[in-house]
Amino acid sequence: MHAILITEPGGPEALTWSEVPDPVPGEGEVLVEVAATAVNRADVSQRQGSYPPPPGAPEYPGLECSGTVAALGRGTEASGWSVGDRVCALLSGGGYAEKVAVPVGQLLPVPEGVSLEEAAALPEVSCTVWSNLVMTGRLTEGETVLIHGGGSGIGTFAIQFARSLGAHVAVTAGSDAKLERCRELGAQTTVNYRTEDFAERMREIGGADVVLDIMGGSYLDANLRSLKVGGRLVVIGLMGGRKAEADLGRMLVKRLSVHATTLRSRPREEKAAIVSGVLEQVWPLVQQGAIRPVVDRVLPMRNAAEAHRVMESSEHTGKILLTR
Ligand SMILES: NC(=O)c1ccc[n+]([C@@H]2O[C@H](COP(=O)([O-])OP(=O)(O)OC[C@H]3O[C@@H](n4cnc5c(N)ncnc54)[C@H](OP(=O)(O)O)[C@@H]3O)[C@@H](O)[C@H]2O)c1
Repeated sequence: MHAILITEPGGPEALTWSEVPDPVPGEGEVLVEVAATAVNRADVSQRQGSYPPPPGAPEYPGLECSGTVAALGRGTEASGWSVGDRVCALLSGGGYAEKVAVPVGQLLPVPEGVSLEEAAALPEVSCTVWSNLVMTGRLTEGETVLIHGGGSGIGTFAIQFARSLGAHVAVTAGSDAKLERCRELGAQTTVNYRTEDFAERMREIGGADVVLDIMGGSYLDANLRSLKVGGRLVVIGLMGGRKAEADLGRMLVKRLSVHATTLRSRPREEKAAIVSGVLEQVWPLVQQGAIRPVVDRVLPMRNAAEAHRVMESSEHTGKILLTR
């Protein structure tokens, strides 16, 4: 088969479409013939050499895919999945390829009303957003959530999901065009982080119960200022660095908590538990049309380098898909 190899860490040109051995599904895995995959920021870090795949994961990038079950590995005969099933999957890597072996606990059916191609836009964002807003952030109806990077793959999904929960949704983004798109997706308070102080805007609307943060260090202080009493900061990205000083006095007085999580390094069983939560609580919303995949553009998989250039320029809104 063919896959995108990272020849050596570096710029987008490091991604090359190469002939590689077919993966063999192990115990508890099925082989998926990939129809589409999607680009995630983590793939850019992996390409640059700063985010290696966890032990046992395929070396090719790609944290999600959609496709068709092509073969069943040992111990999956009673899993309910059959050859020919149309699926999408959360991966630890290996999605930028014609075939990938997937643990059965990380498979999801293609939701009704979503094309096989579009389904590749859903696994990583739905698992990340559901696990961080519901399991970790405990966001509930009537609460306020601040989502940074509202135009990102993660953000465009999080806006729709948080609105479905009945939360008030505030977002940041770096252009008015992205903020307009966020409003169309359901965001009620929009802040251009280039021209406005988001912590001040959050104070004006009474503060956030939960902040879903992709910036890390550079936003820590302003995030803590944005939270109301009992607020929860959930850090899922470090685009603004990994180190910062925190005002523990503010945290103590407001009884704040800070969480930081990553999906990729979680053990298989935890990923399976998240996937089953998503199937139960998110898939019905997708099937009802309350949440739609937001796809910025679709490129051929062999042009992964071009897709990475787009992602690094941040000109996209939503997901960038790569198809066979
Ligand atoms: N922990 C996990 O398990 C997990 C899983 C998936 C993703 N993530 C993280 O989530 C983040 C988003 O990932 P993605 O794949 O959705 O990437 P993406 O689509 O490329 O989104 C990145 C976004 O950040 C925005 N941005 C840049 N600087 C900003 C700032 N100062 N304030 C607010 N927004 C800013 C960019 O657009 P504008 O600047 O134009 O607004 C862009 O929309 C990444 O940090 C990724 O590592 C974490």
